[in-house]
Amino acid sequence: METLKLMMDGQPVAVEQATIPVMDHGFLFGDCIYEVLRSRNGQPFLWATHLKRLHYSASQIDLELPCSDDVLRAEFQTMIDAFEGQDLQMRFIVTRGVGPLSHEPGQCIKPCRILIARPLTKPSGHQYAKGVALYREEATNPMEKGHIKSGNVKMVLALHRAQQLGFYEAIRLNPQGKIAECATSNLFWFDAAGVLHTPSVEAGILKGVTRELVLYLAVQAGFPLQEGLYTWSDLQQASEVFITSTSRGILPVSRIGNQIYAVGSNTQTLMDRLERAPDIELDF
Ligand SMILES: Cc1ncc(COP(=O)(O)O)c(C=O)c1O
Repeated sequence: METLKLMMDGQPVAVEQATIPVMDHGFLFGDCIYEVLRSRNGQPFLWATHLKRLHYSASQIDLELPCSDDVLRAEFQTMIDAFEGQDLQMRFIVTRGVGPLSHEPGQCIKPCRILIARPLTKPSGHQYAKGVALYREEATNPMEKGHIKSGNVKMVLALHRAQQLGFYEAIRLNPQGKIAECATSNLFWFDAAGVLHTPSVEAGILKGVTRELVLYLAVQAGFPLQEGLYTWSDLQQASEVFITSTSRGILPVSRIGNQIYAVGSNTQTLMDRLERAPDIELDF
């Protein structure tokens, strides 16, 4: 079995013994938020920015986080130390907590926090070198409510459909037909003039922490940037395409449907910069 470690409400619990009460609204109604972080060199990477997004997500659903930032930071460190400093992927979930059988969260007693960690697994060297294939998701349902990082079964389904068809990830359009993002990652592309494009927050995306770092690194590298509302034909003009997420960093795309894209030098420049990126606090 995968090497996983887990903490609930700050206490280590064996994975097989960790349980959520069925009356927890996280289970009953998907009333929960989460963050996915990675560690690098024994520290949570981009901690300050992930923390900002966690607070943002909590505020958007009127959820009071059940512990202070300092306590949370200490819990992440306990986890990193338990894995003796190896690079980890860590999922931190806050559920609404136990309450009556009603969507209304007002009577839920106390949010529950869960931290799950495992050694960081990344795509293969071949996938980084040659790129992955994306599928255009036909349904047009964007992030339900702005860019809250919350449970979302539509993303699960989109990824599932793409993988059943032999693709790595699914590109999702919003109801206006504009490109949003992928099921578990943000989407970028370079045009032939070397301008870097990515859908803006208004397209209905999750504001990925890696997305923010890549935008910062692109400015540093001198690439012109454009965020906007894009159609499918805008994407078809791309010369290089890639996706981003915390655990994968930048992953090049070699194909969307039947259209082939080169894994080009601009993407490689950003991949190299991301590899060496300092741990900075980004705007969120
Ligand atoms: C829908 C969606 N978009 C984008 C991302 C990338 O976000 P981040 O860079 O913060 O991992 C994720 C990651 O889980 C996601 O689920």
